[in-house]
Amino acid sequence: MQDFAGRTAFVTGGANGVGLGVVRALLAEGCKVAIADIREDAIEKTLKSLDNQMVMGVKVDVASRDDMARAADEVEAKFGPVTLLFNNAGINLFQTIEDSSWSDWDWVMGVNLQGPINGVMTFVPRMIAHGQGGYIVNTASMAGWLAAGSPGIYNTTKFAVRGMSESLRYSLAKHKIGVSILCPGLVKSYIYASDDIRPAELMGDAKPVDHENIKRLADFHEFGMEPDVIAARVLDGMRDNRAYIFSHPEFRDEVAELFEEYLGDFRDFPNDPGFEQRTGFEKFRRERYKEARAAARSAT
Ligand SMILES: NC(=O)c1ccc[n+]([C@@H]2O[C@H](COP(=O)([O-])OP(=O)(O)OC[C@H]3O[C@@H](n4cnc5c(N)ncnc54)[C@H](O)[C@@H]3O)[C@@H](O)[C@H]2O)c1
Repeated sequence: MQDFAGRTAFVTGGANGVGLGVVRALLAEGCKVAIADIREDAIEKTLKSLDNQMVMGVKVDVASRDDMARAADEVEAKFGPVTLLFNNAGINLFQTIEDSSWSDWDWVMGVNLQGPINGVMTFVPRMIAHGQGGYIVNTASMAGWLAAGSPGIYNTTKFAVRGMSESLRYSLAKHKIGVSILCPGLVKSYIYASDDIRPAELMGDAKPVDHENIKRLADFHEFGMEPDVIAARVLDGMRDNRAYIFSHPEFRDEVAELFEEYLGDFRDFPNDPGFEQRTGFEKFRRERYKEARAAARSAT
């Protein structure tokens, strides 16, 4: 993506943290930007601080298909077709799977996975119909690579966002729509306060909020990466059309170590019946996949 100026962007979770950094970076590039967030007060505060005619706010719960469609209509009526989509809104529940309830699953999956799915299903048909190409950045996390027991549901959603986004990256290249997966480490953000926006209908079997733990998490997030730093890296990744935007270089060695461990789980089993045909078939698939990866890098 080289031509940001004049495009309309839709940034979910744009009122705080990573999303707000991205909003500021896009405005600096001359984009029209919609801040799509569930926190109305934060939208208002942000709009005031930005004081810019090229930005609007739209209240949306990304977990709702209807809400997303309404928000898309509202933004496109004012700013024209959205060709830059940032599925970034996210929440976290810092707990293991065995400590989680059905409503915990519904809430975290609804925002972190159904949210990006709703963004894609709402905007991709519009982008294709508009025919001006575009770009989608889906915010996963380093927790989409490193799963260490907790937070289990969060890990589940972030691994899934990677899968969806990679698949989409190859299928949308022919429409000149790029797709990148943003994988941050710690960010100076407000995600530790996610419990504040848990919908009442998903409170049912929620654990009481652990205020001590939230205080600890707030302290950690203080030394997280500044949203403006991460946003500059996001735009850099979009310019290069990179599959993965790894904003935090400190994770590189750990990912390499992890993949070495995965490779160590392969075994040289003796060839079984069908092995030759299968490897021929996989060779064909592997070549097509490699071509698709190369094509996607020059899609926009
Ligand atoms: N903070 C970190 O250390 C970190 C690390 C890796 C990945 N991430 C990811 O970055 C993304 C942004 O999070 P952040 O850290 O900036 O958090 P944040 O809480 O500061 O900002 C997230 C924004 O999303 C909004 N939001 C939450 N639920 C929503 C919903 N249902 N509909 C619409 N908006 C909703 C919130 O109101 C908030 O303004 C998330 O996807 C998160 O998982 C964060």
